[in-house]
Amino acid sequence: MPLISLAQNKIVLNTDLGETIINKHIYGHFSEHLGRCIYGGLYAGEENKLVPHINGMRTDVVEALKNLNIPNLRWPGGCFADTYHWKDGIGPKEQRPTIVNTWWGNVTEDNSFGSHEFMELCRQLSTEPYFSANVGSGTVQEMSEWVQYMNFSGKSPMSDLRAENGHEEPFKVKYWGIGNETWGCGGNMTAEYYADLYKRYATYVNTSWDSKEKLFRIASGASDDDYHWTEVMMRDIPHKMLEGIGVHHYSVIDWADKGSATDFDENMYFTTMSRAWDMERLVQGHSTIMDKYDPEKKVAMMVDEWGGWYNVEPGTNGGFLYQQNTMRDAMIAGMTLNIFNNHADRVRMANIAQVVNVLQAVILTDEERIILTPTYHVMEMYKIHQDAVQIPIYLKTEDYIFGDKKLPAISASASKDDDGKVHVSVVNIDMNKSHKINLDLRGENFKNVSGRILSAPSIQDHNTFDNPNKITPQKFSGAKLINNKIDVVVPPFSVLVLELN
Ligand code: AHR
Repeated sequence: MPLISLAQNKIVLNTDLGETIINKHIYGHFSEHLGRCIYGGLYAGEENKLVPHINGMRTDVVEALKNLNIPNLRWPGGCFADTYHWKDGIGPKEQRPTIVNTWWGNVTEDNSFGSHEFMELCRQLSTEPYFSANVGSGTVQEMSEWVQYMNFSGKSPMSDLRAENGHEEPFKVKYWGIGNETWGCGGNMTAEYYADLYKRYATYVNTSWDSKEKLFRIASGASDDDYHWTEVMMRDIPHKMLEGIGVHHYSVIDWADKGSATDFDENMYFTTMSRAWDMERLVQGHSTIMDKYDPEKKVAMMVDEWGGWYNVEPGTNGGFLYQQNTMRDAMIAGMTLNIFNNHADRVRMANIAQVVNVLQAVILTDEERIILTPTYHVMEMYKIHQDAVQIPIYLKTEDYIFGDKKLPAISASASKDDDGKVHVSVVNIDMNKSHKINLDLRGENFKNVSGRILSAPSIQDHNTFDNPNKITPQKFSGAKLINNKIDVVVPPFSVLVLELN
């Protein structure tokens, strides 16, 4: 039996004071031409006889992702994006050139999955595409033509080419990233140089399908706490040219040796949790700079890459970034999404890296089999927050203590949906102790409470192809509502979502 902390953690919700919408795009995903994310993960290929598919897209993966209501999908990278020349991926497949994926394992890329295939995937998923365009090795003209190809509704060389390739109507792609990690794999630029270059791109990337629709242009953002980067973007790029700015942060123990995804001790676990908690500090730090230049919060913060990053699974290609996913990852997901929910006034999109078979994936595949990871289940439990009204939260938490170090044990966020139901998501990252929490509900009277919990006997537990349902959310009946107050005991390393009405 785990220890139960005697001191009380406290959550106060003023359920009538919500003003900000938790943008559903915070629950976005990322798909790169990397390892088995696209090929073998999302895309089986039109000729595949082993894996059921519709127009080449894996039916099992599409169905599972639909259940998450994924709001957007970023593509084609990542680092790959700045090597990608979009015209290689259109037209008859047998005429598409083969290239080498130099960032990820030097494998052959036959371009059989290109813009039309990606749009077909988004159609099946009912999700919004987020294109990440090539700035590092591309040109302004190349990107501007891509935007025209995808979006222009009138007659032009690019819209004619699109029609020749079977799609007369514009695809209406709203979200466009102008480069990726331009401080690193996207060109090793300084912030000042990139800000100037961004303006050239943003000037010519202007083809909307409708005069009333504005494109959403996203500047390649800072890594971690590179606040200078955000400062320069916000200072030097006129805000009429900038709808969003990225931030990337991975929870990595040590870039030189990231440790195993499944075989880790408490020291490694604590370090991962500490890196995950850094997101709170980073969001606050970048927000402070953005507030200075944009107090009305018109420019969105887009955390368009986040998640846990470990060493690849033994025996797999080092360039494929394939890793297992344990309850530790469920902790990263739960607390990170709580952070984004609580900062929804500025954070308006985020993309977990990556959707299938790469880094902190929600789905892993092995030929015709798939498993849903603990991270998947957190995303599924939290989908109720999408586009709901954020409820401001007061949280008093005890510490999770490891040796002479400590972290906040509890994280939480809350929202109210269109039907007036209130949802509270709570994460206890403490590896050793259950935490008792007193929830004080103010602003209206509640009659019912129900809940679901994701927990496991061991922090290293994970789903496998032989035991795919070892970890799934369970009904939680440990919450009793008395006079608008609830006392719950949240087990070690677990995620709890309560529903109140
Ligand atoms: O997600 C894997 C890689 O991490 C991406 O390609 C890159 O943008 C980041 O460094």
